[in-house]
Amino acid sequence: MGWDQDFKASAEGIVDTVRAVVQGLTNNYRRVRYLASVARSRWFTDPEDTFEQISLSRAWDYESELERQRHRRVLEEVACLRGTANWGNALELGCHDGVFTLDLASRCTHVMACDISSDACARARLRCSALSQVEVARLNVEIDTFHGKYDLIFAMDILNYIYGRDRMLGLCSKISAALERDGLLVITECRLAHYIQDGWFRSWVPAGGDIIVDLFASQPALRLVHREFHPDAGQDVGPHYMAHVIAMYEKNEEGGTIGR
Ligand SMILES: C[S@@+](CC[C@H](N)C(=O)[O-])C[C@H]1O[C@@H](n2cnc3c(N)ncnc32)[C@H](O)[C@@H]1O
Repeated sequence: MGWDQDFKASAEGIVDTVRAVVQGLTNNYRRVRYLASVARSRWFTDPEDTFEQISLSRAWDYESELERQRHRRVLEEVACLRGTANWGNALELGCHDGVFTLDLASRCTHVMACDISSDACARARLRCSALSQVEVARLNVEIDTFHGKYDLIFAMDILNYIYGRDRMLGLCSKISAALERDGLLVITECRLAHYIQDGWFRSWVPAGGDIIVDLFASQPALRLVHREFHPDAGQDVGPHYMAHVIAMYEKNEEGGTIGR
């Protein structure tokens, strides 16, 4: 190897090292910013107000093609697991304006749909006003009690807003307790950037679809029976639709516990 080649090889090595250091620093900066936003959401903001403002701003469109595709995939997979006959009683956590609630209504005996935002609840109620089997209630899933037992519980795109392992496991426990013996839990959640999902804080702040689905799957009270990405490739579709994980769990025999 000549002097020129030696010089080129070491220059490339230095560039790679600098690039890796810059990338590491950037990722740590993003992690700190994410943790700051978690701390703000957990301790310094009122979730009722936050989600009320989001609903009033009409920022989310659950009638868009990709959201509807995600809803359809969930319905198809539940039909594979539960058949096409009536699915019984369903609880939908974080129903927003009731787009998916309407889908559930035609397949269930009764749908209890709930959301923390009164504006979202009012819109869901209006959308489903012709359907006597749909009930909509304003409820904070972290604080309020789930009354009754359900054949199906849907926690779709709501778990990334539960900040901290203690709170996530508390909710997991409430959901498991509200499921009938062979009940089905359906989760969909956005996959977050790898530097957040795989951050050093992930055991105490589980965030992102992959980590949340694994955490629920590790609980003896639940048995993971289905898992897929939406879209299939597991990649974001442009800046407006984040890739999701879709997961389904059956409740284990009574006696399964939720571990801390
Ligand atoms: C991203 S939207 C999901 C809509 C729908 N589930 C779907 O997947 O198409 C999340 C909804 O959860 C609601 N939400 C967030 N935190 C909540 C909480 N602690 N209790 C009840 N609802 C909550 C928000 O108001 C919002 O309407």
